[in-house]
Order: sequence, then C-alpha cells, then structure tokens
Amino acid sequence: MSELLKTEICGIKMNSPICTASGTFGFGEEFENFVDLKKLGGVVVKCITLKPRAGNAGVRITETPAGMLNSIGLENPGIEKFLSEILPRIKNKMNVIVNISGSSVEEYGELAKLLDVDGVAAIELNISCPNVRDSGIIFGTNSKAAAEVTQAAKNSTSKPVIVKLSPNVTDITEIAREIEFAGADMISMINTLMGMEINIETWQPTLGNITGGLSGRAVKPVALRMVYQVSQTVKIPIIGMGGISSAEDAVEFFLAGASAVSVGTANFLNPSVTMKIYDDLEKYLQRKNFSNIKEIIGKVKI
Ligand SMILES: Cc1cc2nc3c(=O)[nH]c(=O)nc-3n(C[C@H](O)[C@H](O)[C@H](O)COP(=O)(O)O)c2cc1C
Repeated sequence: MSELLKTEICGIKMNSPICTASGTFGFGEEFENFVDLKKLGGVVVKCITLKPRAGNAGVRITETPAGMLNSIGLENPGIEKFLSEILPRIKNKMNVIVNISGSSVEEYGELAKLLDVDGVAAIELNISCPNVRDSGIIFGTNSKAAAEVTQAAKNSTSKPVIVKLSPNVTDITEIAREIEFAGADMISMINTLMGMEINIETWQPTLGNITGGLSGRAVKPVALRMVYQVSQTVKIPIIGMGGISSAEDAVEFFLAGASAVSVGTANFLNPSVTMKIYDDLEKYLQRKNFSNIKEIIGKVKI
C-alpha cells in the first residue's frame, strides 16, 4: 500500500482516499476480480431500506452524451438480509460504508441503530435520491428536514454519520451548514442531477419513471463547483463525487476541498478504473514532490 495515499477521516483508517459511490459498485464483492478492495478507502454499498424494495418498473437506465440517466428506485434486499447475509461476507474485505434511505425521520434513526454493529465503518444518509416518490429527496431539499434526519441518525448510532447532499437545490451551502450544525460528521456530494429523455418516435419518456438522475462525466463541473462552495462553508470533511473517471479528475476535487473522492458511473465503463486512479494519483503526488495526499486538500489557488 502506498504511504502517499494513506489517510484517515473521522477515525476511519483508509489505504487511499478513493472510495466507490453507492449504487454503482454493488456490495463490493462483485468487483473482487477487478479491484484490490484493500486499496480503496471505502466501498459505499447500495442503498439499504428497512423493507426490501423491487425498484422502479420499466426502463431504468439510459446512456446520454458523456453520462447516464438512471431511475433504479432504490432496489435492495432490505436491512434484515443485509445484516444477516451480506455484511458478514464483506465486512473483513473493505471499509463498509452503508448508504441508507428512509421514508420518515424515525426510519433513518431506526436504520442507523440497526447498523451500529461490528463491520460497519460509517453510515451515509441518502437524503438526495431523485428517483423515488416516498423517500429521500424531500429531506435533501429542505434544510430543516435534513437537520432532523441527521440528528435522528446521530442519536441512534456511534458510527460516523455522512450526509449525502442533493445538487437539485438552489443553494447547497445552506443545507450543508444546517446538517453540520445538526452534528453530521462528514458530507458526501453530489447525488445525481434530475434529468429526462424523450424518444422522438414514440413521443414517450425513455425512462419508466419519466425522470431520472444524471451522472457521469457530464456532471463533473457542477459537482466540482458545489464541492468548492461547500468546502468554503463547513469545517467537516467532504467526500467529493460526480463524474470522476481519472486521477486528474480526482485531483481537481482534492484541490477544491474534498478529503476523499468516490467513483460512480466510471465503474460501469471500466470495472477496474479505481485501480488506475490509485496508480496515477500516486504518480501525480510523486511528480509534484508531495509525501501525502492530505497536503493538497483545499489548495486551489484563488
Ligand atoms: C445506477 C446508479 C445507482 C445509484 N444508486 C444510488 C443509491 O442507491 N444511493 C445513493 O446515495 N446514490 C446512488 N447513486 C448516485 C451515485 O452514488 C453518485 O452520487 C452519482 O452517480 C454521481 O457520481 P458519478 O457521476 O461518479 O456516478 C446511483 C447512481 C447510479 C448511476
């Protein structure tokens, strides 16, 4: 493991600041043949809810120029199966960060409590999913609701609580400020940007859900701008994501103020892309004569 890339965030020891984004990397184990999981800072597993969910009907993914639109709708096996079957299998292989979504403040608290167990490195609150009607985004676009969810989770677990922010808001710094005040340990950002595509032959939306979340290279400048703005506003660490597919992309996020990064859509194009980012990031730091990644965080020259 490279000493240049080792880092620690909120007490979580990471072999690199490179994580994988929820919903794009399964439960990590599916990628074992492509990735040395120990080289990742953490794997943020697919969103878990109290009850299993089948997800949305119809077409759920479509490719766009420089990205993709998805409306998966939080398909997952539910917390019970995750705790009894999946977590025991994966917990010693990687830092497991569990992304959760609830349809009420109480549900977030309940999930956080159930996840206060050995093998969970941190809990990420998905308050920003644009693809389900009964949960998620309502908390992520209202700063009071976001703060309540944060407090409910914090009061129910000893694990670090990461709050994942939605870009589908007018002022992302307002919500960041509120959730920091409410006790969040970390922020991750951004979730997908709400988008749409229409088939001009059938005149129907491509996605069964009508709208979906845009991710991939197209969103990178928006994500980077938001990470920069939030890093100027809060003191808690930020895990930056949105369109990262190379070490160069990642460096931009570190300079903008992210303490770690997550790779999402790029995993679909190349399942071992995080290993290339790992190698190239190490080379970048060597070329620039730095001895650790922490030395470049927030160092953008304005
Ligand atoms: C197919 C797919 C499924 C996703 N599922 C989740 C999810 O369950 N929970 C969540 O917080 N974010 C989810 N996301 C959002 C990603 O974690 C990430 O925030 C977003 O895609 C931006 O990063 P990227 O451009 O590198 O993909 C999903 C994204 C995609 C493309």
